[in-house]
Amino acid sequence: MGAGRVIGCRETGELMRDTDNDWTNLGEFEPYFGVLSHERFLRHNLNEAGLAEFWQTGANHMVGVRQILIDHFGGEFAPKTAIDFGCGVGRLTRAMAPMADRVFGIDISGPMLEEARRNSPPENVEFRFDIPQDCLIDWIHSSIVFQHIPPARGYDLFGKLLDAASPKAMLSVHFMLFKDALGVADQYHPNVEFSTWDGRELKPLLRKDRAAGSMSMYDYDMNLLIAMMVRRGFSRYYMHHANHGGCHGVEIFARRD
Ligand SMILES: C[S@@+](CC[C@H](N)C(=O)[O-])C[C@H]1O[C@@H](n2cnc3c(N)ncnc32)[C@H](O)[C@@H]1O
Repeated sequence: MGAGRVIGCRETGELMRDTDNDWTNLGEFEPYFGVLSHERFLRHNLNEAGLAEFWQTGANHMVGVRQILIDHFGGEFAPKTAIDFGCGVGRLTRAMAPMADRVFGIDISGPMLEEARRNSPPENVEFRFDIPQDCLIDWIHSSIVFQHIPPARGYDLFGKLLDAASPKAMLSVHFMLFKDALGVADQYHPNVEFSTWDGRELKPLLRKDRAAGSMSMYDYDMNLLIAMMVRRGFSRYYMHHANHGGCHGVEIFARRD
């Protein structure tokens, strides 16, 4: 692993970590651990049972997401097109395949996408770098992804996803909002940097030099997220609190009307 890289942000002029480079690195060396950071998903520990468990977590998660969307927004759940944004090796994309006609797994990491393709995805799944331009999207999903993207870039990406939504589109997206210092201290790991972001300033809780392939954890601003959605016609919501070891976030389920 080489050193971590720092890049300039076009919008703010600030320097920030090049997390794309981290994810290329993680995808190459530890794709499954990069998705679910448990020791049993490290390459040298991963066996058939572990892999089966890995896929099952994705299937369970998406059955729950689909049910929440049906319970709260009613009607028939029959999206023609769906996006799994930040798909990694396809853990959730694969589970979404029976739920939509076409599913796009989108990721910034070439090695993650390659691993996803090696996992023999169903025929209606396409793994790619970019948001498709030739169709609108009926269901936009993203789990444990934006938390790893510096917010100055993440809001822009979220806006692009919302702009790709069809007139009655559904949304199920996860964002991190704040951290419980005690919880974060408990899961202190030399290769993870936790930061807060108040909309103007990025404040690393633990500042240190980290190798490429480290993970970064960023907070988002709920007001801004809601404003972005409302401006694009997503006015019906249901939200879940999500607590990942002291990193508190929200799963937003929404429908455009
Ligand atoms: C923790 S993994 C989660 C993978 C998948 N969502 C899941 O739950 O199985 C985070 C994923 O987000 C991807 N990612 C990070 N930054 C991204 C960006 N700017 N655009 C698209 N994907 C990104 C990473 O490459 C990685 O595959």
